Amino acid sequence: MKKIQPARKISGTVSLPGDKSISHRAALLGALSAEGVTVHNFSDGTDCASTLSCLEQAGAKVRRSGATLSISAPEGLRSPNTILDAGNSGTTARTLCGLLAGRPGVRARITGDTSLSKRPMLRVVKPLRSMGASIDGPEGGSLLPLEISGNRLRGATHLLETPSAQVKTALLLAGLGAEEPTTVIEPLATRNHTERMLAHLGIPLYFEGNSITIAPSRPLKGGEWTIPGDFSSAAFWIVAAAILPDSSISLPNTGLNSTRTGLLNVLERMGLAFTVEQEGLRGGEPTGTITVHSSTLRGTEVSGSEIPLLIDELPILAVAATQAKGVTEIRGAMELRFKESDRIVAVTQGLAALGADILELEDGWRITGSGKLKGGRVSGTGDHRIAMALAIAALVADAPVEIEDPECVRISYPGFFATLDSLVGRSAS
Ligand code: S3P
Repeated sequence: MKKIQPARKISGTVSLPGDKSISHRAALLGALSAEGVTVHNFSDGTDCASTLSCLEQAGAKVRRSGATLSISAPEGLRSPNTILDAGNSGTTARTLCGLLAGRPGVRARITGDTSLSKRPMLRVVKPLRSMGASIDGPEGGSLLPLEISGNRLRGATHLLETPSAQVKTALLLAGLGAEEPTTVIEPLATRNHTERMLAHLGIPLYFEGNSITIAPSRPLKGGEWTIPGDFSSAAFWIVAAAILPDSSISLPNTGLNSTRTGLLNVLERMGLAFTVEQEGLRGGEPTGTITVHSSTLRGTEVSGSEIPLLIDELPILAVAATQAKGVTEIRGAMELRFKESDRIVAVTQGLAALGADILELEDGWRITGSGKLKGGRVSGTGDHRIAMALAIAALVADAPVEIEDPECVRISYPGFFATLDSLVGRSAS
């Protein structure tokens, strides 16, 4: 249980953890490189630790010293001796399917925690099977645990039925070792970290309209770079500074990839007072400093192609909407029902318990901002982004809020509560 006291203001400079999505990819691509990859500011969350332990069991050489990770696989990947445990991490489970399915002779079983064991896997299993992958699991491969028997894959053209960077990444990784070119067509753009990192490591990709083609490729080059701060972690501080009075937060070295920063565009429409200073590329990823000040927000509508660009930020956007003047309607976000929890339900219940005017829709919410939240007890539902969003909501409540399950923040942001305490001017509680 974590008790969050209302705050008068929030201010300071935040040193963000390394981007979780980019950290997963650095580990995965490092494990395809004989020369190896060294990255600084590797995510300290448990999700990325799950990816590392799976890769290590599959033969990768992993060295971690603080936030620096070195990973390589000089002898290539092999069958692990144990079951690969993806923990809570959908990115680990799905991308490993693509990575391992195209390694002839590698046999592996992938499992996960209770939440991950309920999440849909067919979205990655089905297109991989169309390339000749051998993957089996409960309900026709819809759920974990999945058994993979790696073999030589055929190239294929895939139209992504669900906009998903995890699926896109799995297919591009499978395509790296396939016999012919592999094309992924994305009707809606999703985060493009895999494409950027592959290019950074010397793998040619061909882009045409909304399609990406990867050809069977020579081994990846090695490299060393610093992973930008996680925009999805920054999102909590951006909203906190916007909704509290007399506040100002500075976020240096933040990832500014436009396939991730959709929240900034939406908040800008809502009246956010902020500046962005671009500072160049790190490992092919744009970074810079975001500074946010207290803002007077108004409601907006969010749907369609904007959704994949802020999919993980929707819970904290809902918190911002409770403090905006007028109605905010978020639609087309059905995908939230298949995340670490059913985030449409979790946000509705959590914010309603704090007195927000929030209506659950099939694919989003209608939120009428009143600027008022009350204290109470809410559940983080074992979902890191829900626990952190409710903790920020608690700062503007009129009485303390108790959050059940606060330890789930370690999945992406172990230092979240310590940072919160220091930004609101309290010693750690
Ligand atoms: C991720 C992609 C997104 C996101 C997840 C991380 C990634 O999921 O929600 O937290 O690293 O590729 P989908 O690709 O399934 O939308």
